[in-house]
Amino acid sequence: MKKIFAANWKLFKTPKETREFFAQFKEVANKATGELVFFPSAISLEAASTSLTGTTIKWGAQNCYFQASGAFTGENSAQVVKELGGSYVLIGHSERRKIFGETDALIAEKVAFTQGLGLTPMLCIGETLEEREASHTFRVLETQLYLGLAKADKTKPVVIAYEPVWAIGTGKVATPEQVAETHTDVFNILSKLGFAQSPILYGGSVKPDNAAGLIKQPHVNGFLVGGASLEVKSFSEIAAV
Ligand code: 13P
Repeated sequence: MKKIFAANWKLFKTPKETREFFAQFKEVANKATGELVFFPSAISLEAASTSLTGTTIKWGAQNCYFQASGAFTGENSAQVVKELGGSYVLIGHSERRKIFGETDALIAEKVAFTQGLGLTPMLCIGETLEEREASHTFRVLETQLYLGLAKADKTKPVVIAYEPVWAIGTGKVATPEQVAETHTDVFNILSKLGFAQSPILYGGSVKPDNAAGLIKQPHVNGFLVGGASLEVKSFSEIAAV
């Protein structure tokens, strides 16, 4: 399976910084060993679109609503992502779940809606530290996948990003053993649900010095990178593993 190296820029980088990043990144993008996907913040999407026209580098939004237009003040339209030439939408990131109260039911609507537009949803799942310590990881991931994919079309692509909440932005990366075990569980759940073809990315404190050990683990098909994707050097090193 082709690897995917995805960058979640969260609420960082202005349009100007986005253009500057890509001007440099395009010089080293050919070192990547898989598909490259960037998720800039919404107002920088057009800058990404313009910068990446004519390249094989893909991009998408960090969130969208499940209707193309209407009286939904402050939301992002997946239709606009499509018109600008985007390919992906990140859905159900743990920050959206925790800070903005997104439920699995809402996430399921977004997954189905983006697929319907011909975009690829990248569905994020992951357990909290309390859930892992209470040995509830499997049950949490199974529930998030079962509910999040409830309305998804099995014949259309969907990418899964497993991001343990306790490893996001903490510098506390999951060990290769934890990643191997959990990705195997995620693969087995996906197989049961009819999504065995979906790539499974790992996210949570991925850095150039731990990427090589993690990519070797079973059912790790790439990474979703936060902090280390903001610098050309660190992200291009990760994407070259
Ligand atoms: P960090 O790589 O900064 O831990 O963030 C991970 C993440 O949330 C990517 O979506």
